[in-house]
Amino acid sequence: MATVCSVASLHQEANPSRLKVGSVKTLAESSNLTSIPSHYAFTTSASGDQAVHSDHDDSIPVIDFSLLSSSNPDQRRKVVSDLAKACQDWGFFMVINHGVPERQRKAMGDMLTGFFDLTEEEKREFEGKHVLDGIRWGTSFNASVDKVFFWRDYLKVRVHPKFYCPSKPEGFSEVLAEYAGAVRKLARGLLKGISESLGLEPGYIDEAMNMDSSLQILTANLYPPCPQPELAMGMPPHSDHGLLTILMQNGIGGLQVHHGGKWVKIDPIPNAFLVNTGDHLEIMSNGKYKSVLHRAVVNNKDTRISIVLSNGPSPDTVVTPAEQLVDGESNRAKYIGMKYKDFLELQQSSVLDGKSVLERVKI
Ligand code: OGA
Ligand code: NI
Repeated sequence: MATVCSVASLHQEANPSRLKVGSVKTLAESSNLTSIPSHYAFTTSASGDQAVHSDHDDSIPVIDFSLLSSSNPDQRRKVVSDLAKACQDWGFFMVINHGVPERQRKAMGDMLTGFFDLTEEEKREFEGKHVLDGIRWGTSFNASVDKVFFWRDYLKVRVHPKFYCPSKPEGFSEVLAEYAGAVRKLARGLLKGISESLGLEPGYIDEAMNMDSSLQILTANLYPPCPQPELAMGMPPHSDHGLLTILMQNGIGGLQVHHGGKWVKIDPIPNAFLVNTGDHLEIMSNGKYKSVLHRAVVNNKDTRISIVLSNGPSPDTVVTPAEQLVDGESNRAKYIGMKYKDFLELQQSSVLDGKSVLERVKI
């Protein structure tokens, strides 16, 4: 994939002008911006591999979460088999009747809009210095090494097992704590169904991954309107490292999923969450449920905000393929066991290149 290669090669040299680079929001709001500065232009653009809408007979799966707690065994069986199919065929699905109140989702959206609307100076207060800082506001992906910049500002906050939150805007911490708790509950509920769909006890993943201490990280992404969207990239192709990623957005599309050899545009149903399986679900399922490449493109009209919660194992859990899914001869373990936090460190020290970190734990 040309785009992946060009991204990887861009990460090798420190960017000497990094201190002068401000947020893309400020840049986009500067008057008369009709073209993008050259350090945002990719030589291999997203237009090189045009995205398509999904086919009617192979559209992104929809999971009705409420059926997982149904007292009707047929309904339960049906949703578990829907989950199996969704994880196996797509690695991406929408979740409806998810139990997270619309009020909480809206409050989160408002808080993040408020956060990105703070002045550049106020936001700088939250500019993390180290990858392990609980709160990190920034731009692009890794602005100290990116040679070409992504059209994206972000806020990353670790919310569980230890809770961090920026002190602004006022009330953010209550809203974030409540929302993250509700999404964690959703993630654990889905993992029960996914466990069952793998032929394991419903509580298997929850227990084996020590989900009481699940590492949960918020990433809020801001993609301002871009005068030359075909030349810029919001977020390059990557897979997510956790077990399940749960995403909502402000009604503006931009996410694309690599499915069936093509980039497919994803426009979620209003009020639904978009969920995708991560590298650690791939590892624990011994490759049965693969993490999937996705990327974000930008547009020239609307600001897009996506609010993403990554739900992973506890940081100290050594994740290995489930014993029940491995047998000596025909189905050997395909991944080495590694602590989740060691995997994250490996990822932080590597160039961003599709699923390359996962490749390194493959046997
Ligand atoms: C992510 C991600 C996609 C988007 O934050 O990991 O894939 O649409 N975001 O913002
Ligand atoms: Ni992602």
